Amino acid sequence: MSGPHTANGHRPVLYVITCGSPMARNVGQLVDLAKRDGWDVCVVTTPDGAKFVDRATLARQTGHPVRTHYKNPGDLDVLPPADAMLVCPATVNTVNKWAAGITDTLALGLLVEAQGLGVPIVAVPYTNAAMAAHPAFLAGLARLREWGVQVLFGDHVVPLHPPGTGEGHVDDFPWAVGLAALRGTRRPVAPVG
Ligand SMILES: Cc1cc2nc3c(=O)[nH]c(=O)nc-3n(C[C@H](O)[C@H](O)[C@H](O)COP(=O)(O)O)c2cc1C
Repeated sequence: MSGPHTANGHRPVLYVITCGSPMARNVGQLVDLAKRDGWDVCVVTTPDGAKFVDRATLARQTGHPVRTHYKNPGDLDVLPPADAMLVCPATVNTVNKWAAGITDTLALGLLVEAQGLGVPIVAVPYTNAAMAAHPAFLAGLARLREWGVQVLFGDHVVPLHPPGTGEGHVDDFPWAVGLAALRGTRRPVAPVG
């Protein structure tokens, strides 16, 4: 199989971080595509993201438990360390808190730490057109870009819709776009020669 691999021959680990949006219902489609690209996939949800996903199905699909909350002190890690992270869909709430360095969810803690470790991160924000217009959201996206996060956002990626109409567009979500961006990352993922 072509795709990314790590120096020790194991499949590189991709954390798919999914937030509180109806799009998250279909995150299994992203898991399938990522596995086809050669990733060992782990799904992490925000607490609100957890309301939209089927944990048991995703756990079967990935071979890893879906994680949402910080472990308790003394508990062992249940996921392998990440070689890359893909935040998809990234909500306004998570983007704004991430840009401010807040770590009050496991998803945010992982992202803030990953940035410090130099782990490649891609984000695909999704919200309605009204929430997307908030200055804090746009400023947050710009800050994340400045810090090296690949932010895929705009009508060319995924058109935004008026409030209350997003549910009608769940089947149009561009799950492959974040994976395509990760194919361009050089550290620590390398293409098979
Ligand atoms: C039915 C429903 C759909 C939502 N869709 C979105 C969305 O697509 N994008 C978004 O930014 N927020 C959306 N929200 C709001 C978020 O779920 C809310 O801001 C939440 O606090 C996000 O938390 P999280 O960022 O930790 O996932 C939606 C809320 C509900 C109840």
